[in-house]
Amino acid sequence: MTNAADKIIVALDVATKEKALELVDQLRDQISFFKIGLQLYTAEGPEIVRAVLSAGAKVWLDLKLYDIPNTVARAVESAGHLGVHMLTIHLSGGSEMVQAATAARPNNMLLLGVTVLTSATEETLREIGVASKVDDQVLRLARLGVEAGIDGVVASPHEIEKLRAEFASRIKIVVQGIRPTWAEPGDQKRFTTPRQAIEAGADYIGIGRPITAHPQPSEVVAKILQELS
Ligand code: C5P
Repeated sequence: MTNAADKIIVALDVATKEKALELVDQLRDQISFFKIGLQLYTAEGPEIVRAVLSAGAKVWLDLKLYDIPNTVARAVESAGHLGVHMLTIHLSGGSEMVQAATAARPNNMLLLGVTVLTSATEETLREIGVASKVDDQVLRLARLGVEAGIDGVVASPHEIEKLRAEFASRIKIVVQGIRPTWAEPGDQKRFTTPRQAIEAGADYIGIGRPITAHPQPSEVVAKILQELS
């Protein structure tokens, strides 16, 4: 059985290498997987990826790539050379782009697809000429991704059940935007706690600010692990 701690990915959404490595240092005994996203990568580049890998941790490089197929494929190759364990691309780039990306990824790297950003609403989809409902667009893009060989998708907590029902264990589901119960007391939304997300079928849960913005990040992680055990 997988250890609960192996399912948690801490998002290093901070501005500097120093702050990121301080967090890795504080959490390394509890957590083995960290996410480096656009803010930190743009500020510190591949050096920060190498530094986190050197600490013996795994890295999810969340760059949400979206470009012509050849450019995305070459960027996937570069991420492979860096040695990251997970990388994200936008599935909206279409099947030719996704196929180019999956063909370029090394065997030991999971390629995850972003369907519809969790910040997007139906109004956002209308703005860009998409007439579907958000849920339908999520499923449409997930199907496109799976057919093009994607390893998993990044999903919002409320999408887990539908994705699991359709794809069973063929894909990894990584969920973000979740909150431990004590971080938002009284919040009654479904599947918003780490435990609910795991029970609903998430393979990994990405958590940022509830851990990283806390004065004692390792205490928050300990509490989450206790809740999951
Ligand atoms: O909110 P939190 O700091 O935990 O976010 C961690 C990561 O989850 C962020 O890096 C962001 O990419 C992602 N996120 C998301 N949808 C949300 C909130 C956060 O995808 N609603």
